[in-house]
Amino acid sequence: MPGCGGSACSLRPVNSEQLSPGVIVTGGAGFIGCALSPGLLERGSRVVAVDSLLEQVHPGQQRPEALPDGVELVTADVTDAAAWDRILESVRPELVVHLAAETGTGQSLTESTRHAMSNVVGTTTMLDAFVRHDVLPGHVVLTSSRAVYGEGAWLDAEGNVFNPPPRSHAQLERGDWDHRGPGGGAAVARPTDAATTQPNPASVYGSTKLAQELILGNWADAFSVPVSVLRLQNVYGPGQSPHNPYTGIVTLFHRLASRGETLDVYEDGLIGRDFVHIDDVVSALHACIERPPAAEEHRTLDVGTGAVTTILDAAQMIAQMYDAPMPQISGKFRDGDVRHAVADVSRTRADLGWEPRWSFEGGSADLSTWLRKGGFLG
Ligand SMILES: NC(=O)c1ccc[n+]([C@@H]2O[C@H](COP(=O)([O-])OP(=O)(O)OC[C@H]3O[C@@H](n4cnc5c(N)ncnc54)[C@H](O)[C@@H]3O)[C@@H](O)[C@H]2O)c1
Repeated sequence: MPGCGGSACSLRPVNSEQLSPGVIVTGGAGFIGCALSPGLLERGSRVVAVDSLLEQVHPGQQRPEALPDGVELVTADVTDAAAWDRILESVRPELVVHLAAETGTGQSLTESTRHAMSNVVGTTTMLDAFVRHDVLPGHVVLTSSRAVYGEGAWLDAEGNVFNPPPRSHAQLERGDWDHRGPGGGAAVARPTDAATTQPNPASVYGSTKLAQELILGNWADAFSVPVSVLRLQNVYGPGQSPHNPYTGIVTLFHRLASRGETLDVYEDGLIGRDFVHIDDVVSALHACIERPPAAEEHRTLDVGTGAVTTILDAAQMIAQMYDAPMPQISGKFRDGDVRHAVADVSRTRADLGWEPRWSFEGGSADLSTWLRKGGFLG
């Protein structure tokens, strides 16, 4: 009977006659995984989460309370081939949702090996295990990131689209925040759409997410496995690790403002982000699962709200919620941060029959309620 090591492992022991179909969710104990699982269980699926319970996300490395009891948790690193062997001796994956990743954009510049191991080698180790066990999933869903676009596409004053390179350290040090057209004139950012926007990552994290997409695409072509890639914008909301200092600026702003601290807003405050509530991401994932692509098809879709919020607007709104001092624009910056990010979700709406529902204001209030209940506010 295959079992698994580790106290948090709850993989159901089976013998080979009982090898049963199920859904494998890598990184299933994380923010998105915990929110996705109840709906997977409701479909009647056996759900197996494979998660290393990364200390940075899960202090104490305990099974998260938000992970439903019905989910079998295997505490394992996706780069561990022997762990995959044990898992695939127990479950035949009909569907794989690949969420496991190191997600710190800034951190990825100084800990690139760690990011590449989990995100790239973790993906290849999983795919090799499927082949070794002769189990081809019916559908693989990858949560990629808007980070694959880097600075994305911009429009110059003459109406020409151009793809600016990442802003250099020297440019940021000069406080020269915005991109300009090739002739030096003003330019505006365009919403990103996988069908038209060229990927051009500006961070190691973004490069590893693009590598995941490419590797999965190569593999799926060879083995005729349908693949969906969802490029997520900045996800926030109840359940996001309040302990992880490397991700989740919205959660961080709420915690600081609730303690009466002055929020430090980088650059000139006009960095733009498409903040998408966790419920809208989960509904997009379920819609994607319910409407799988045709056999041998790969599809890549953008998930956001389609609306941009500047960091200054977000900070001011959150500061007001807690009567905190008005945010200060500090002119600090982070290498690898992109200037502007917003998704064009029209194809996602059409292909998945999905609609984002949450405004940033409503979503922020929802997050605040959750943080207060959990005792995470000052
Ligand atoms: N949250 C966002 O804003 C956002 C935006 C774009 C894309 N994504 C993508 O969505 C996915 C899930 O993100 P999340 O927000 O739930 O992050 P999260 O950090 O809450 O969850 C990731 C989970 O993966 C686990 N993990 C990390 N490395 C692992 C490894 N080597 N082996 C096994 N498990 C490992 C962690 O323990 C964690 O539970 C990631 O692939 C991320 O790149 C997230």
